[in-house]
Amino acid sequence: MVPPPPPHPKPLEVFDMASALAPTNIAVVKYWGKDAARGGNTPINSSASLTLDPNDLRAETVMVASPELRSDELYLNGRKVDVKGDGTHAKRLRRCLATMRRRCAKAKHPPRSSRATSSEELSRWGVRVVSRNTFPTAAGLASSAAGYAALVRCASELYGVRDTPSFSLSATAREGSGSACRSLDGGLVAWRKGCRADRADSKAEQLFDERHWPDLRCVIIVASAAEKETPSTEGMQRSVATSPFLTHRAEAVAEPRLLDLQKAFRQRNFERFGELTMRDSNSFHATCLDTFPPIFYLNEVSKRAITCVHAFNAAQKRTRAAYTFDAGPNAVVFCENEAAADAFAALAATCFLGADLSRRGLRGLTNAPEKLARA
Ligand code: DP6
Repeated sequence: MVPPPPPHPKPLEVFDMASALAPTNIAVVKYWGKDAARGGNTPINSSASLTLDPNDLRAETVMVASPELRSDELYLNGRKVDVKGDGTHAKRLRRCLATMRRRCAKAKHPPRSSRATSSEELSRWGVRVVSRNTFPTAAGLASSAAGYAALVRCASELYGVRDTPSFSLSATAREGSGSACRSLDGGLVAWRKGCRADRADSKAEQLFDERHWPDLRCVIIVASAAEKETPSTEGMQRSVATSPFLTHRAEAVAEPRLLDLQKAFRQRNFERFGELTMRDSNSFHATCLDTFPPIFYLNEVSKRAITCVHAFNAAQKRTRAAYTFDAGPNAVVFCENEAAADAFAALAATCFLGADLSRRGLRGLTNAPEKLARA
């Protein structure tokens, strides 16, 4: 039986509104592990990612604030989420909104278009958040990164809250989901673990913008659109508690790799960039296997994609394609424009029965940060 459509939200007479979108990002040096003593999704290692084109995989969010809303509401991909409950999204949304409202309440004036008489009044109004992803949610394609980046951008517009020396949208986005702070910028973005004792300096920064390497492309192989069995937050907590390899990775592997990767990216050296990317993905999944009980994010299709990329590179006698997998079985294969058609053909010919090979990523990794502000 077809379930009845969700009740239509009631129209509001007085409201302020903002909208924003944010693309997903694909980590090339993975964030895996939180510093439990410091809270707030403080990472145990620095990480880096490439932000995808917002025309492809993105989250779109609209926020409405109104004195007529008695409590906050969240609609995620068409479904109403209980924001007062204990669910992951409810807690994360409350955290991000509380931070943005505190900043808003301190401002001298509300945003110019606001119908509220003061910022303090606006910060007390209830909000309705409507968000959707243009791609499978929670399937290891960084949907929460795009989702919380879009939420924070949207709230920043709604409340007129901007970056200052003592406040960053990056830190607020990571309160929602760690990797979200990297989706606020385009290009290659690093998220530093921070060196201050309180780690207040742990934030994302753009290393190279989206114009630096215009030839870089990616193919996304949707090996499964199902939600992952072990959410990232739970998986990394288990790894922190049980994996000796994780400590080694965080202390001795991730930081030097990030420096090497930055250099390869600066030089647009695909062979080096590709090898570092593949090695980091393998090291992250090795950590998952070293976790006890182990976590398996890769499936048979993922393994075929790995074998196929190595066979392709061996046949080409150099690294022309490079895979990476986040916390799920879906492969992201990077290549330069000149190799894209060959890599796509090799992947399509060798590995895929039942996998959805998306060409959309071939349009590129570019994204102009200014495009993110308003949908
Ligand atoms: C494997 O950012 O989803 O994709 O901070 O708990 O929300 P939380 O985790 P999340 O973890 C992402 C893990 C990863 C690697 C990465 O994106 O760096």
